[in-house]
Amino acid sequence: MSLGWKKTAAGLVTAGLLVGSLAACSQERESGSGGGDGATAAPEDTLVGISMPTKSLERWNRDGQHLDELLQGANYETALQYADNKVDQQITQIENMINQGADVLVIAPIDGDALGPVLDQAASQDIKVIAYDRLINNTPNVDYYATFDNYEVGKMQGEFIVEQLDLANQAGPFNLEPFAGSPDDNNAKFFFSGAWDVLKPYVDEGKLVVPSGKAPASNDEWQSIGIQGWGSDTAQAEMENRLNSFYGGGQRVDVVLSPNDSLALGIAQALEGAGYAPGEEYPVLTGQDADQANVLNMIAGKQSMTVWKDTRTLGDQVAKMVEQIIEGQEVQVNDEETYDNGEKVVPTFLLPPVVVTPDTVESSLVESGFYSADDLGL
Ligand code: BGC
Repeated sequence: MSLGWKKTAAGLVTAGLLVGSLAACSQERESGSGGGDGATAAPEDTLVGISMPTKSLERWNRDGQHLDELLQGANYETALQYADNKVDQQITQIENMINQGADVLVIAPIDGDALGPVLDQAASQDIKVIAYDRLINNTPNVDYYATFDNYEVGKMQGEFIVEQLDLANQAGPFNLEPFAGSPDDNNAKFFFSGAWDVLKPYVDEGKLVVPSGKAPASNDEWQSIGIQGWGSDTAQAEMENRLNSFYGGGQRVDVVLSPNDSLALGIAQALEGAGYAPGEEYPVLTGQDADQANVLNMIAGKQSMTVWKDTRTLGDQVAKMVEQIIEGQEVQVNDEETYDNGEKVVPTFLLPPVVVTPDTVESSLVESGFYSADDLGL
């Protein structure tokens, strides 16, 4: 991190030669010192602002740290900030990065709809913007997007449930409780759609029933079961509520669709509190992110799977995008159809997610070095 960073030689390096005088130091961004459009700048003259949503969730700490280290390793100046899941705080932090003379902003938004005005400021200074993991909506001022295939994440969760319950062959009915992610997170609708496209036919057929009634009639209604801020506590309270209100008289929940690990953690707590113990009868419980606490839960039989998104590969891809922007090269993308932010289809690089089950923890998470065996008590 280099929060006290001051741009000292912006615009002074041309074709590798330092011309002019360092007395011209300024925090002002000079056009053409980066930001693509064929312009090139030396990494050490380039400030990359990295705006992450929160430190409270494990993955964002890993994301921020990895990207920061990569960029610094390539000699870029960086400003890394976490916004405590507060939208206003994130906007102020981005404004500060703009004032510091950022050339590129990498932003994982808290509220994908709230950054239009601050990105107008960025655009007025020719700053390039990369949406990181989550799309930024309703603004033309987002240049690129890098993420994992969010629809595929949900599809993998749905397909895992179908396989575990053998829904193709079993009549059920199985009791399902579906959850969705934060209503302000653009990814959450993709996660839900991916899963619901697989599961809803079984709900319609009656093989899956939802005792709480919290089964959206269509993908568009996903926000009705969204958990604001992806909070574990909120998910726990919601699951406790459903168990207390709809599972009297010995009825058991067979499967919980959880879109990510922070929700799964709360849901597992609620299940434990209601007397569900690991073993044959424990509900199928999905997740996403391979957070350490959840991998430990998987090993302990309290979560059935997680969708692992190797955040190192996302950081690598975004660092590559930054480099391509700064060197004035064409920025590599592989999806120019899916991510319409309401103003434009944002050129996107999609990475593949991977299913991890208790059986594959070692072969995927440990062998890749994402965790050490020690981290997981193995
Ligand atoms: C990310 C997930 C994460 C969730 C909560 C989503 O936008 O894609 O990986 O679990 O936010 O932080």
